[in-house]
Amino acid sequence: MNNAFARASGRPATRSRPRTALVSAVVGLALVATGVAVASSASAATTLGASAAEKGRYFGTAVAAHKLSDSTYVGILNREFNSVTPENEMKIDATEPQQGQFNFTNADRIVNHAISRGMSVRGHTLAWHSQQPGWMQNMSGTTLRNAMLNHVTRVATYYRGKIHSWDVVNEAFADGSSGARRDSNLQRTGNDWIEAAFRAARAADPGAKLCYNDYNTDDWTHAKTQAVYRMVQDFKQRGVPIDCVGLQSHFNPNSPYPSNYRTTLSSFAALGVDVQITELDIEGSGTQQANTYRNVVTDCLAVPRCTGITVWGIRDSDSWRSGGTPLLFDNSGNKKQAYNSTLEALNAGGTTPPPTTAPPPPTTAPPPTTAPPTTPPPGGAGCTASVSLNQWNEGFVATVRVNAGSSRLNGWSVSIALPGGSTVTNTWSAQASGSSGNVTFRNASYNGTVDPGTSTEFGFQGTGTGPSATPTCTAN
Ligand code: XIL
Repeated sequence: MNNAFARASGRPATRSRPRTALVSAVVGLALVATGVAVASSASAATTLGASAAEKGRYFGTAVAAHKLSDSTYVGILNREFNSVTPENEMKIDATEPQQGQFNFTNADRIVNHAISRGMSVRGHTLAWHSQQPGWMQNMSGTTLRNAMLNHVTRVATYYRGKIHSWDVVNEAFADGSSGARRDSNLQRTGNDWIEAAFRAARAADPGAKLCYNDYNTDDWTHAKTQAVYRMVQDFKQRGVPIDCVGLQSHFNPNSPYPSNYRTTLSSFAALGVDVQITELDIEGSGTQQANTYRNVVTDCLAVPRCTGITVWGIRDSDSWRSGGTPLLFDNSGNKKQAYNSTLEALNAGGTTPPPTTAPPPPTTAPPPTTAPPTTPPPGGAGCTASVSLNQWNEGFVATVRVNAGSSRLNGWSVSIALPGGSTVTNTWSAQASGSSGNVTFRNASYNGTVDPGTSTEFGFQGTGTGPSATPTCTAN
């Protein structure tokens, strides 16, 4: 990445040096006429990536793998940007089209293009209600929770060391005034699905920054913005691993750039996370559009922890909302007025460079689970438990079924022996005490009661080899 910034900062070698004052003046006028930032500083950067890099930031774009054979597209990409986000190629339907069968072909094309040119990569996205493959859309409950965690783990592990920031969870809050979570199959697996995904991502790639990403979270007064803010605050307080918040920032007349945008950026940053503008596009044209781009860039540069901006495509014709001509290059790849104001704002900013942020700690200990040791009352009804295991090279997901015997269970605990070197990193629908050796899992508040002859499930994720011995179930 440093390499990327150094490369991107380089001046064009072919820039001509006018020999006379007259020629110099003419060239100067021509540059002013095209709106390119010049004059004030002989060293003003001439590309978006180079200028952002001078401020310790990145300037990125969404990239579609099938456009990497378009020479105009690639020419602009390589010249202007030092960060990329795969537009669709890392989504769940693309990377795990059949359960357990992963396909990284198209994502790899983008990642390899970026890394070989020193650009950084934003991973988008590991857990989302949308663009799920059919098999996942049809899942629910513990099965879905397991499948989601397995997906997060496998994809983040595959790309370990290559991703600057992961959008671990995308768009999990509802629009409107409720401030509630969005209803989805993932949300229905339990409110802790988001933190479970973040813990799994941290375990899989400790070097990547982990972001929560959403739209309509730009206006500081909106209920959705406030709800995301409270979640991030809660995660920081409880030690859930989160490093950044992504504001998609898709602006249009229904969802305009808000005048309090900078307050939103600085308020999130004050929680101790980076802020990234992750999918910027601004519908419109001409001066109105150029001014809004200028405002967004200026706001980001004014907030030390606003560390990068990504536009959601290169030319207007590449946009998912192409009718709104929301990007920086026209359909032919020419720079628009919005490009010029963006570059000017980048070159003008930089009074508050972001602090050099240390990479996240190599491992984050799971939060202390506060399962008080309970003495089972005598004479409890019997139960049994069985484990089904999804094992891969470095880790596993274990699903445990707890079966009631002939009497109703009013609470249970299951003791499971883990092989040496294995560690539990994440538990759902139960509380674990300990994380290695003999680990005891107690029922959660909502699944302690199990009627005779029926069963309930919980699960956990770990590094190393999963359990092979039969677990011991105790009725409380
Ligand atoms: C969009 C892509 O740009 C389209 O190509 C695709 O058809 C749908 O998804 N929020 C997100 C992005 O997080 O993943 C979405 O990208 C745009 C909205």
